[in-house]
Amino acid sequence: PKMYGCILIYLVSGLIEHTEASMFNCIPRKTVNYKNGNIRTFTKEGISNFSTLLLSEDSDILFVGAREAIFALDLKNISKEISHEYWTVSKEMQEECKNKGKTKDTECRNYIRSLHEVDDTKFYVCGTNAFQPTCDFMIVKDGQIKLEGMPEDGKGKCPYEPTQRYTSIMVVDGQLYSATQYNFLGSEPIILRSLGKNLRTEFKATWLNEPSFVSMDVVRESEDNLDGDDDKIYVFFTETAIEFDFYEKLLIPRIARICKDDLGGQRTLQKKWTSFLKATLICSVPELSFQFNIVQDVFVLKTGNWKDTIFYGVFTPQWGKLDISAVCAFSMTTIQEIFSKGYYKGPVTVGQSHVKWVMYSGVVPTPRPGACINNNARRLQYNTSLDLPDKTLQFVKDHPLMNEPVPSINHQPVLVKRGSNYTRVVVDRVTGLDKKIYDVMFIGTDKGYLHKAINFDGEMFIIEEVQLFNSPEPVESLQLSSAKGQVYVGSPSQVVQVPVSVCSRYADCMDCVLARDPYCAWDQTQKHCSAVNRSANSENWIQSVKHGDPSKCPQTGNHEAEKRTVIPGSNVRLKCVPMSKLAVTKWIVNGSILQPINSKYLFYDNGMIIFNVSVADVGLYICESVE
Ligand SMILES: *[C@@H]1O[C@H](CO)[C@@H](O)[C@H](O)[C@H]1NC(C)=O
Ligand SMILES: *[C@@H]1O[C@H](CO)[C@@H](O)[C@H](O)[C@H]1NC(C)=O
Ligand SMILES: *[C@@H]1O[C@H](CO)[C@@H](O)[C@H](O)[C@H]1NC(C)=O
Ligand SMILES: *[C@@H]1O[C@H](CO)[C@@H](O)[C@H](O)[C@H]1NC(C)=O
Ligand SMILES: *[C@@H]1O[C@H](CO)[C@@H](O)[C@H](O)[C@H]1NC(C)=O
Ligand SMILES: *[C@@H]1O[C@H](CO)[C@@H](O)[C@H](O)[C@H]1NC(C)=O
Ligand SMILES: *[C@@H]1O[C@H](CO)[C@@H](O)[C@H](O)[C@H]1NC(C)=O
Repeated sequence: PKMYGCILIYLVSGLIEHTEASMFNCIPRKTVNYKNGNIRTFTKEGISNFSTLLLSEDSDILFVGAREAIFALDLKNISKEISHEYWTVSKEMQEECKNKGKTKDTECRNYIRSLHEVDDTKFYVCGTNAFQPTCDFMIVKDGQIKLEGMPEDGKGKCPYEPTQRYTSIMVVDGQLYSATQYNFLGSEPIILRSLGKNLRTEFKATWLNEPSFVSMDVVRESEDNLDGDDDKIYVFFTETAIEFDFYEKLLIPRIARICKDDLGGQRTLQKKWTSFLKATLICSVPELSFQFNIVQDVFVLKTGNWKDTIFYGVFTPQWGKLDISAVCAFSMTTIQEIFSKGYYKGPVTVGQSHVKWVMYSGVVPTPRPGACINNNARRLQYNTSLDLPDKTLQFVKDHPLMNEPVPSINHQPVLVKRGSNYTRVVVDRVTGLDKKIYDVMFIGTDKGYLHKAINFDGEMFIIEEVQLFNSPEPVESLQLSSAKGQVYVGSPSQVVQVPVSVCSRYADCMDCVLARDPYCAWDQTQKHCSAVNRSANSENWIQSVKHGDPSKCPQTGNHEAEKRTVIPGSNVRLKCVPMSKLAVTKWIVNGSILQPINSKYLFYDNGMIIFNVSVADVGLYICESVE
């Protein structure tokens, strides 16, 4: 009764130099349309671009940054607005922005791009502010939000350009880490720490080369760390490669990291990161000769121990011919290995002026360049990065790129999808009734769908796709609340809320079990598909996430025969709607399978048509659906 969700078929042609993915036939088991999606929405007259979401599970509030507005919404039902605050651009500023050659009614507005919680009542907000990035503190009391009205320069903390990709986080000690462009022209990319011990990247193409920043997060590596290592901030971006000779601009996905306690150098790298290192991410299908070289988003799945952290990234290929997206996962241990033990890449001059980047095989100074201050360094009297020797600092300044790329787990994607452009991802870790752990991916598309997918030891499976909006628009931000069991989505026109699962949508035991949805199981007592309840007695529950095996389900599915009287010469439609898009249906009449050999029959998704019926067509027609 089981069919693999995804089949990879390759078309190899002797004439074309490379193997091309002709088909990635990964279809969602179900498509849930907008009406049936159990979706709650938030829209506001005159307000658009709901691109920034901040979950506050303690206060049950979803904060939303939009164009010239900030909202506090009820996390349980986002249709309920608790409060709002508007932050508009003055006429003068709009004129000034227009005079610099920007579009008055779109670009010269204030797009709220950054929302961070400083403490329970204090937040930090930044907006593009008509190409003059500006930040302010925001006070939250009983759900009521109010800007302090003491704006400060947001240069480096927030982009100038509203359409530009950007990322930032606030770490518990109140320091803001941001990755954006530092100037009006957008030619000075920067990873900046502000609101405390300010530090930034060098303006050098070897550090950052036309990057598009997508995400960053902190990993608490100092916890239970025998080496006395520091917490690290990981930044994900796509940049133009400098290490390859290529006649076209080759984009490359990167992971960079910096140490939280970095204070910069004393002489070399003064007020700059002494711990900035980056590596290439590899997301590719081994059988294909191309790589997914644009990273669109990364979700950091944090579990009990920081060593088990997994980075889930959404990737697309640069050359647009292939309509394919992929999700790749990367393990903390591999990343750590590469940064803390791997070789560096270095430039060598070939011929007159040509520079090639190769593995650096010379002597590497100690302490290790780019490493955080750990017990080893402290033993050598290097208590902070300010104590580090110039040799180490000069080396890391010139060699920020690691030689080894970071391979994805199992050297293949966890999901490959043809015909969809994936934009954002969040991942929930769920325990099934079999006590096994399943990482459920929720992936947004540029057409407004949310795919829910799992990878079972290499087998890719899309449980369902849910249509999030009435008309297509891209998913621009995703937030997950595991506690509430909700996914929150920001888009150009609205915010929507969708449950991680709606078990009651599964019609019967077969449907419930074949869905392989770890959130749901068939309750034999109540005779319906319900959310797995860990406190209840699970003996009466049927679930088979790993194998999708419904053999424990009571035998059903034989529907009562229905009698149809028809007029000779007319066309008759017989309905048969399979519960799953992975099901294959066939029609049996008088005990033999009907073949669509002649124009007598037309088979379609939801049934078939018999044309020009006559007495010879009388019989018992059975539709059999096999998944
Ligand atoms: C959510 O809030 C809206 C607006 O207040 C209300 O109309 C709707 O009934 C609420 N839905 C639920 C399920 O509580
Ligand atoms: C803002 O939203 C509108 C549609 O509502 C869209 O056309 C525009 O591109 C968005 N602008 C940005 C900067 O995201
Ligand atoms: C580093 O810290 C130790 C112990 O606190 C101290 O004795 C030593 O002088 C410090 N070294 C430097 C270079 O500051
Ligand atoms: C994906 O995006 C590309 C480039 O923006 C576009 O050409 C293509 O039609 C999109 N594909 C789908 C399925 O939306
Ligand atoms: C789970 O089961 C327990 C015991 O049967 C019951 O009291 C509780 O209400 C259930 N919880 C949910 C969320 O259904
Ligand atoms: C319908 O079937 C009858 C015989 O069963 C045949 O005579 C007639 O030509 C058919 N009509 C069409 C439109 O095919
Ligand atoms: C089914 O069997 C009956 C009785 O043998 C026969 O009259 C009829 O034509 C058959 N129908 C078809 C579609 O073969």
